[in-house]
Amino acid sequence: MSSDPQVYVGMSADLVHPGHLNVLKTAATHGSVIVGLLSDKAIASYKRLPYMTYEQRLEVVSSLRYVDRVVPQDTLDYVPNLLELRPDFVVHGDDWRTGVQRETRQRVIDTLATWGGRLIEVSYTEGISSTQLNLALKQVGTTPAIRLSRLRRLIDSKDIVRVLEVHSGLSGLIVENASVKVNGAIREFDAMWSSSLTDSTMRGKPDIEAVDISSRLQTVNELFEVTTKPLIFDGDTGGKPEHFAFTVRSLERLGVSAVIIEDKEGLKRNSLFGTEVAQEQSQIDDFCFRLSTGKKAQITDDFMVIARIESLILGKGMDDALRRATAYAESGADAVMIHSRAKEPDEIFEFIDAFRRDPNHVPIVVVPTSYDQVYESELIDHGVSVVIYANHLMRAAYPQMSKVAHSILEHGRAREADTMLTSVSDALAIIPENRA
Ligand code: SPV
Ligand code: MG
Repeated sequence: MSSDPQVYVGMSADLVHPGHLNVLKTAATHGSVIVGLLSDKAIASYKRLPYMTYEQRLEVVSSLRYVDRVVPQDTLDYVPNLLELRPDFVVHGDDWRTGVQRETRQRVIDTLATWGGRLIEVSYTEGISSTQLNLALKQVGTTPAIRLSRLRRLIDSKDIVRVLEVHSGLSGLIVENASVKVNGAIREFDAMWSSSLTDSTMRGKPDIEAVDISSRLQTVNELFEVTTKPLIFDGDTGGKPEHFAFTVRSLERLGVSAVIIEDKEGLKRNSLFGTEVAQEQSQIDDFCFRLSTGKKAQITDDFMVIARIESLILGKGMDDALRRATAYAESGADAVMIHSRAKEPDEIFEFIDAFRRDPNHVPIVVVPTSYDQVYESELIDHGVSVVIYANHLMRAAYPQMSKVAHSILEHGRAREADTMLTSVSDALAIIPENRA
């Protein structure tokens, strides 16, 4: 062991650029450098999940010549690692004085002060930043394999994976780019949901598996041309097990991360009708066979087959829902989706709390369409892994389109509809390449 001063540098090291090297170089002039490499979970708590996995980032950082040792940093907060390592210095870029990391910085200063340690800040390297590189990477796009594997990483590292419905390239771009800052942290959608209801409705067709898989895959292809986020595919009933095996292969080949199939037989109707229309639930054994056939068909380790339980929708009761959840997980389902059309989230919470007591439980997916008052924070408290807003972009577009059509008819001209429309220049700006 050297008796050099110990210098701690916390970093994500996803897109390593000269700015990072500058920080590390400065750190190395003060002693032996320990990098606290932020885990996926720590990074996902305040910004986008990194492109590279922890292991890949570890490999990169460990081979940098300024770095003597790498330790995991499991929280955005440095304090736990600082207390353990008691470094003489922490070195960081000076770009964290404002924004989400401001408090983190103050805690570093206060903690170091308790043993006479000091924070050294390196001035920001002009002309290059992770934000710019992120933008450039988005333009480069992604590969099917990288996109596919992201959903599992998100489930492992986020409190909840937030998913929004898409039905076209344009809706995909909205999910790709929508971003808000809440209390200094960036909030975005993590993934897309290809809904059978909205994919059918956009084609003017009923949600009864009348739109065939090839057409559904056409939508996915269009989405994948212009987005990088992972996609969960609504596989309806999955069809015959033998057919489902082909669907799994096709989805995987495109880079879809997961398929959700529901335990129904015969002519499928939309679940939100509940018992108002005739719907038949599958025998448990039959559905387990469909699931396990899908699982056997997949080629990658990362693709997920998710079992959707319709017991609460069909009035079969909580015990039936729980029995099925256990059986489906045993048959290889990577997660379960519990659906409900109740106006309150109570039955969903009852299911989740009971299923999570099962030692073999798998991640839980929910679709709060009818119980839309529920906050993500409540779902997180109950241990939900994925929340899907299943039809909202289609439902947003329809009333506005309809209103504009009526207005043009009523007035015999388009002027009165103008306030309901985006301007032509804004419409052109949606796709920056229009101008290029
Ligand atoms: C869909 O979005 O197509 C779904 C969810 O399957 S639901 O419409 O609630 O059944
Ligand atoms: Mg559906």
